[in-house]
Amino acid sequence: MSENWEERYRTGDMPWEKGEPSPGLVDFVAAHPDLERGTVLVPGCGTGHDVRVWAKAGFSATGMDIAPSALRLSRERTAAANLRAEFLLGDFLRDQPTKQFDWIFEHTCFCAIQPAERELYVQAVSRWLKPAANFLAVFYLIDEKDGPPFGTTRDELVKRFSSSFELLQAWVPRSYPNRTGLELMMWWRKR
Ligand SMILES: C[S@@+](CC[C@H](N)C(=O)[O-])C[C@H]1O[C@@H](n2cnc3c(N)ncnc32)[C@H](O)[C@@H]1O
Repeated sequence: MSENWEERYRTGDMPWEKGEPSPGLVDFVAAHPDLERGTVLVPGCGTGHDVRVWAKAGFSATGMDIAPSALRLSRERTAAANLRAEFLLGDFLRDQPTKQFDWIFEHTCFCAIQPAERELYVQAVSRWLKPAANFLAVFYLIDEKDGPPFGTTRDELVKRFSSSFELLQAWVPRSYPNRTGLELMMWWRKR
């Protein structure tokens, strides 16, 4: 069954909304002050917390979501924070890129889509990235088949992404309290 994301934002049924960005992303950006300030796409950006981390750090940040109400909240909160970012309404899995990015940042989009769509997701990451560009992800390692969120394992991630991406680094990040020890960050480079 496909999820009705727009309905979930309209009714406020958003248990993933933590009111703050991914702690793992915050730490990554702080630990890498010398990264070249390029373009970043955040697919399934929700209300835009992670987009604003990249924007605040000086990147040219774009959030994408399939739910118009998520983008409305993203735009309002970004303006209220006096930050600049672009927000695109679209289907990350199926749309053709209008441009390619230096970075993609994944956080609770991979676990939100149907598991049968995961190969489409891998292809989409490759399609939306420039050659030799970066894919930074916070994956959710839960054992859940009746999602969203749908679980995954480190083995599945390595199998799925290794053909198109080289793994630079993988680590367990700082997390929201209810996800501690359940997240895996991976930094991949497009081959
Ligand atoms: C679990 S929410 C996470 C939102 C945000 N990343 C966060 O952590 O707060 C999943 C998000 O992915 C979006 N989404 C689902 N399928 C999508 C697709 N094919 N293309 C773009 N966005 C999608 C949903 O609308 C929703 O905002």
